Amino acid sequence: MSNKLSAADKAKFICAKRAMDFVKPGMRLGLGTGSTAAWLVRLIGEEVRNNGLQIIAVATSDQTAKLAVECGITVRTMDEVKWLDLTIDGADEFDPRLNLIKGGGAALLQEKIVATASDQVVIIADESKDVQVLGKFPLPIEVVKFGWMTTKGLIEEAASNLDVMSYNLTVRMDGDVKLVTDEGHYILDLHLGRIGNPRELSLILNQIPGVVETGLFLDIADAVVIGHIDGRVEVRDINTGTIEFEQIDVVEQDNMFLDI
Ligand code: 5RP
Repeated sequence: MSNKLSAADKAKFICAKRAMDFVKPGMRLGLGTGSTAAWLVRLIGEEVRNNGLQIIAVATSDQTAKLAVECGITVRTMDEVKWLDLTIDGADEFDPRLNLIKGGGAALLQEKIVATASDQVVIIADESKDVQVLGKFPLPIEVVKFGWMTTKGLIEEAASNLDVMSYNLTVRMDGDVKLVTDEGHYILDLHLGRIGNPRELSLILNQIPGVVETGLFLDIADAVVIGHIDGRVEVRDINTGTIEFEQIDVVEQDNMFLDI
């Protein structure tokens, strides 16, 4: 087991560390899913265990809930908490307006419910997620199992009418079987290469019966904290239009990296 982090992992770690500045005692906090959000959960766990940080946490996936509990964080259900002060989550892509593609970790449905019910949404991501136009990352679409092939056909028909160069729709696999989300659905990944009009695409897809939700998160994020591989952290706030940089040095403490 190595405690040496790759440059990409350091970038994920430093943006999570900077995002800790947004976390205040007593907050109702949404915990995102994915490898970047996992750093945040570990850092919050450290604060809870070592400094008695009191927060009310809701997780966006079973995976995050499990990690949070392992880190000493008490996790409540969304129905217990209902509304949140802040959600911090990762993303697969973000554009200059902070519109996002999410769902690479198949948690997009819970992530969108939690983010939408949050006063503030902060995205943490390494610089590779920063794009001018969304769509290089295949768009995850969560669909119900019943009639999923019919739903797939309807999505393909809708995609063929869009102004796109090409499209390809694949069902997400988990080894030899279709991946099943925490909510018991399948994920279809829509490969478009470029999403010229995310709003139109979102509206079209959400009208198709069988589509539960898409990974397009539009007008949801308030700020993005970007970790650069050279140790710089950039905070872009879409509401104030401000951009801040700072340098964060990683001190590789054994206890932080034991599960890497
Ligand atoms: C999970 C997500 C993740 O936030 C997204 O996939 C980014 O993950 P990572 O931080 O591992 O790159 O949307 O559904």
